[in-house]
Amino acid sequence: MMAAAATPGCGVSQALTACGSHEGLRRVAPVFGPGVVSVSAPCKLPRKLNVQAVAEPIAKSSPRTIEECEANVVAGNAPAAPPVPAKPSAPEGTPAISPLVMPARPRRNRRSPALRAAFQETTISPANFILPLFVHEGEQNAPIGAMPGCQRLGWRHGLIDEVYKARDVGVNSVVLFPKVPDALKSSTGDEAYNPDGLVPRCIRLLKDKFPDLVIYTDVALDPYSSDGHDGIVREDGLIMNDETVHQLCKQAVAQAQAGADVVSPSDMMDGRVGAIRKALDLAGHQDVSIMAYTAKYASAFYGPFREALDSNPRFGDKKTYQMNPANYREALIETRMDEAEGADILMVKPAMPYLDVIRLLRDNTALPISAYQVSGEYSMIRAAAAAGMLDEKKAVLESLLSIRRAGADVILTYFAIQAAQWLCAERV
Ligand code: PBG
Repeated sequence: MMAAAATPGCGVSQALTACGSHEGLRRVAPVFGPGVVSVSAPCKLPRKLNVQAVAEPIAKSSPRTIEECEANVVAGNAPAAPPVPAKPSAPEGTPAISPLVMPARPRRNRRSPALRAAFQETTISPANFILPLFVHEGEQNAPIGAMPGCQRLGWRHGLIDEVYKARDVGVNSVVLFPKVPDALKSSTGDEAYNPDGLVPRCIRLLKDKFPDLVIYTDVALDPYSSDGHDGIVREDGLIMNDETVHQLCKQAVAQAQAGADVVSPSDMMDGRVGAIRKALDLAGHQDVSIMAYTAKYASAFYGPFREALDSNPRFGDKKTYQMNPANYREALIETRMDEAEGADILMVKPAMPYLDVIRLLRDNTALPISAYQVSGEYSMIRAAAAAGMLDEKKAVLESLLSIRRAGADVILTYFAIQAAQWLCAERV
């Protein structure tokens, strides 16, 4: 289905360990008759290996040369081919009709697994996944009630273990979300740019352990805001744009300083991409990328995430900065701005309810597109599967494939490790 790439634990080597060596294969592969080879491999293996394994015995045991075989056929003594298989019978009562006359039968291209695989337009691979990770100050991991299977990871050990697991199945990109103690929250969110804060500490730890890990960070004030908003809240409830952008720049620089590869502003303030680009460049971080949350909608599907971080807005909603779910064209305005301001990657969020918007961006920019399969999308599938209403593996892989088909290059998904494990298993 997809290229094995350099995915640790997923490749042919694993198939060999599971099924035996070339030597083992040679022993079990019987050879029948002159030039006719039948292979009964002990388990599914790439065809190339089978051919290699039997090549030697054919040459040694074949009594006739190619010339002799050819001469036989020319003389009219072609060896017998297997009989034409009998036509499978239809159930009794099937109407006897003459076939419809139609030149195009699209089902012809779907009739076998090999044909379906050959014509598959979209693929998914662990290389397309970005794994969101929740971290907290604790030593132990703590389960997240609204996101079964996800945890707030202890920043020192739990985090490292989870990243080990991810890399083992080929997921080498993560994005960090901190659960900040209430005592460190304030109305101006200044903890967001503390160089020794939770996120910078996690980045340094991860980079020390896994230098080639791609680390994305979230740029927004909500985990640090005593109001639970992405920006600074004025007395009358207004979210202050330019003052917030000032804070976000400091936050992005602190993250870059700690070693972040990609900073991702999720706040939806106007002009933040350009301002952050400038701040990063001024601080010497020309090589740090910006993944802009370009079309981020004011969505009910963020509910479980806000429980995970305890970051629910203390009042009101986020509709003055996040986009109206009813709007499509408006995503183009955001796209043009983020592009002009120097974004490297454009994001659509949530993913499944906004596949049309992913396609809109795909058709209107040459930049890579990311899509965020958000907490609510994750919990919905988990809950349906837990209730026995859905086949979880099929639903997850279909949802990810659909997001790719709509035009996303990379997907932020809480299913990243599980989905990568399933994909690796399919390859063997
Ligand atoms: C906050 C932020 C949110 C998410 C990512 N960054 C929540 C929000 O905007 O309220 C949501 C992710 C998810 O639901 O999985 N800046």
